[in-house]
Amino acid sequence: MLKLDNLTRRFGDTAAVDRVNLEIAEGQMVGIIGRSGAGKSTLLRLLNRLTDPSEGQILFGNRDIAQLKGRDLRQWRSDCAMIFQQFNLVGRLDVLTNVLTGRLFDLPAWRALAQIYTPAERAFAVQALDRLTMAHTALQRAETLSGGQQQRVAIARALAQEPKILLADEPIASLDPLNAKIVMDALRTINQQDGITVICNLHTLDTARDYCDRIIGMQAGRVVFDGTPAQLTQGMAREIYGAEADQAFNEAATSTSLASGPRARAKEAV
Ligand SMILES: Nc1ncnc2c1ncn2[C@@H]1O[C@H](COP(=O)(O)OP(=O)(O)O)[C@@H](O)[C@H]1O
Ligand SMILES: [Mg+2]
Repeated sequence: MLKLDNLTRRFGDTAAVDRVNLEIAEGQMVGIIGRSGAGKSTLLRLLNRLTDPSEGQILFGNRDIAQLKGRDLRQWRSDCAMIFQQFNLVGRLDVLTNVLTGRLFDLPAWRALAQIYTPAERAFAVQALDRLTMAHTALQRAETLSGGQQQRVAIARALAQEPKILLADEPIASLDPLNAKIVMDALRTINQQDGITVICNLHTLDTARDYCDRIIGMQAGRVVFDGTPAQLTQGMAREIYGAEADQAFNEAATSTSLASGPRARAKEAV
């Protein structure tokens, strides 16, 4: 169980995350929605301690994550793997090496620097790639892959960490609808088969509705909605997204933002 208690992060006068209280049970698939600047990325970064809280607590079991240092902090970062909109692979390295870096925290520095991995580690990394049907690309340079393929490799890298929690910050925002579906299906499979908690920032509402057990809506750093997809009314969703509603309600409009057709149809639909 992950428990956020009064969690706050300020940047100057802006409270990017503002007194957030949440309990997230193990194994949930949670979607965080909200317009740009609502605080979604900051919330994920607080969870894996890429950012430190200004106030409040993050409890996992009975440990206060906000207080961790040194090896404990590295272990925590490894327990909550993160995937990003821009994949963040090292392009000139091969796919397998990228996946193996998911386990770097666990290695002595000299082995990490020399990139020496045991056969068991390599086999584990290949297995992770295989789950994403990407094992055939293991020896290819990451930069030769399409965006959708790179995100699948990034998920394999996250799996290689054997995380307890998978954090995903708009993982499909740079992908076409087909690859977006492949990536979201993969996250769902990992959630259901491995019981890993998935917390996923999503810009589009349809995706959150289709894939998540629970939707959390953020506005100006605050949690303004917390419930099931069925509980999220169109009115509430409109309020969460404000001026971005038309865009958020239609995935086709975000993947082909210059196309007038889907956007116009979305307006009629909501
Ligand atoms: N490193 C930073 N320095 C200053 N302001 C920041 C920083 N990161 C985020 N913010 C501000 O915090 C707010 C929330 O940002 P963010 O978490 O990125 O929102 P979202 O991911 O929902 O778009 C925004 O007003 C943003 O400008
Ligand atoms: Mg963001």
